[in-house]
Amino acid sequence: MIKLRSVAAVLISVLFFTSCMKNKELFVQSPDGKLKVSFEMKDNKPVYKVKYNNFIVINESLMGLVLSDSDTLLKGMQIAASETKSVDTTWEQLWGQNHMVENKYNQLIVKLNEPGEQSRQVNIIFKVYNDGLGFRYEVPEQENLGDFIIIDELTEFAFNDNHTAWWIPAYGDNRYEYLYKKSALNDLDTVHTPLTMEAGNGLHISIHEANLTNYASMTLAHTGHNKLKCDLVPWSDGTKVKTKAPMQTPWRTIQIAENAGGLITSNLILNLNDENKLDDTSWIKPLKYMGIWWGMHIGKYSFWESPNHGASTKNAKYYIDFASEHGIHYLLIEGWNKGWTPAWYENLLHVFSFTQCTDDFNFEEVTSYAKSKGVEIIGYHETGSNINNYLTQIDDGMKMYADAGMHNIKIGQVGSRMQMKEWHHGQYGVEYYRFVLEKAADYKLAVNFHEPIKPTGLRRTMPNLMAGEGARGQEYNAWSEGNPPEHTCILPFTRLLGGPMDFTPGIFSIKPTRVHTTLAKQLALYLTIYSPIQMLADLPENYDNHPAFKFLQDVPVDWKETKVLEAKIGDYLTTVRKDKNSDDWYLGSITDENARQTKIELNFLEPGAEYMATIYGDADDAAFDTNPEAYKIDSLKVNSQTTLDINIAPGGGCAIQFKKL
Ligand code: NOJ
Ligand code: CA
Repeated sequence: MIKLRSVAAVLISVLFFTSCMKNKELFVQSPDGKLKVSFEMKDNKPVYKVKYNNFIVINESLMGLVLSDSDTLLKGMQIAASETKSVDTTWEQLWGQNHMVENKYNQLIVKLNEPGEQSRQVNIIFKVYNDGLGFRYEVPEQENLGDFIIIDELTEFAFNDNHTAWWIPAYGDNRYEYLYKKSALNDLDTVHTPLTMEAGNGLHISIHEANLTNYASMTLAHTGHNKLKCDLVPWSDGTKVKTKAPMQTPWRTIQIAENAGGLITSNLILNLNDENKLDDTSWIKPLKYMGIWWGMHIGKYSFWESPNHGASTKNAKYYIDFASEHGIHYLLIEGWNKGWTPAWYENLLHVFSFTQCTDDFNFEEVTSYAKSKGVEIIGYHETGSNINNYLTQIDDGMKMYADAGMHNIKIGQVGSRMQMKEWHHGQYGVEYYRFVLEKAADYKLAVNFHEPIKPTGLRRTMPNLMAGEGARGQEYNAWSEGNPPEHTCILPFTRLLGGPMDFTPGIFSIKPTRVHTTLAKQLALYLTIYSPIQMLADLPENYDNHPAFKFLQDVPVDWKETKVLEAKIGDYLTTVRKDKNSDDWYLGSITDENARQTKIELNFLEPGAEYMATIYGDADDAAFDTNPEAYKIDSLKVNSQTTLDINIAPGGGCAIQFKKL
């Protein structure tokens, strides 16, 4: 990732405050002038407000950090100085939804000092973009504050109305794996971020955080009428963050868009993370992969050694042969190592080995056979949340993969608490995932975390963080009551705003009771769920000779550009993306349990150019609950003037390849 244009326009102004100006209200606005943020010390307390045009996004809301002994940092402080600057740059993504990212904002830094002799200092930094804002607390190095413990963060989000919200609960044994609920803001208890809301005037607002480093993650507690407050996930001892000056909190982010699609194309979270810090990124590649995986979830294979063990040398060769013959270059193998038992998912400190193979799996034989067939194996470490057991073996386990020429690893943290004690999303977990990611980078391994910490844009700084789970994925369709059709119409506006998800689409053998989509919707998910790594999740035998498999072979995983053509949270979504490595475009359109007819104008295509459109759609009689596998494939020539009529079945979808002629 290189910086293309350095600061095109940087205007810096610094103001020092005399005693009569100390309670002055400070303002900063977005480059387009629509978003206006203000800050002041009111009755000795820091407060901020946000407006979008004349609409109040955030009413007066409190800020502050409470240290141990209930010492409220920031209370009674005075504004000593403020600085503003404007930045306008563009940077290049190694991989992503779009190749170039505009980073254009106005910044306000408020410098606060405590009066008196034991004075302490805190800065509050605001960055205001056209698509939202971020603010963070910064505790600079200073004499009167060294090590400290945060027991509460007071940051509030006071809305001006009882908006409609889509949310999942924050403290559940299944981490982030819950179905989203839609309710009025005032019906919330404590919820995870991203928390997305729609105001009565159609404005879409999403609260999240960016650059979650050495801190606890922020959940949101409902604390009053239309009001939420930051609720930091605690350590098992009840404290929230153990830290020392100098430090910065994560950015508290408020994404704002005039329509639902604008949230998906916003770059706010990435822009609020640090630049890439990996020198050599040549080994990091977006990819499609098959997996010895779905078979275990539907009970065809076992994770553990048994007559139907999924990860046997023999079965691995069967998968490798299929992948190789069909031009798929990566294969994930789960359950290849010692430690798996039929009770692998229970909350116990399971002892997995990260180097010893099961008796029926020969690692050297499988990896060299794969190499001879042009396939690379993706490694798998399931920790079972026995973190201590993992960390004593992590170097050996990762080295074994690196020595075999592998560049990708999936790492799982199944369990309700890490080490049966700490939340996955507390500071313990935040530091654990960062340690593992950095360790993986040392071994040139790109990571797919399952049971992860929610994404906050760290992939910009560490682009070996490819994707994560962190929501109910396809696996729930194998062994639970399943995800309802609207689940995938909510994910792009909630969980996915934080970063890519390894949802694992592509199931072709759909029992109506199981997957709750049509086959065409499974194809469309490759466009509506962004991830630089996408699994072709079904069994080889279900893909063999299937005409729709061509789409999975063709669909790219890295994009030059992304646009959302139409979207309504929980109901439907149509996304188009331009391939990074060709002039071709792809479209994915999905719906919830309701059928949908839509007209799509192809004005995103290059004017004057002709394209061959291959349309993978629902058959006329398709429906997710009665006839899910019925699909049809049509081809026609189109150009940027064409309007396509698309009919989508209940729980259905449509996937289109536009190949430039
Ligand atoms: C849960 C993960 O999400 C899934 O992908 C994996 O197969 C199982 N854990 C086994 O580790
Ligand atoms: Ca719906």
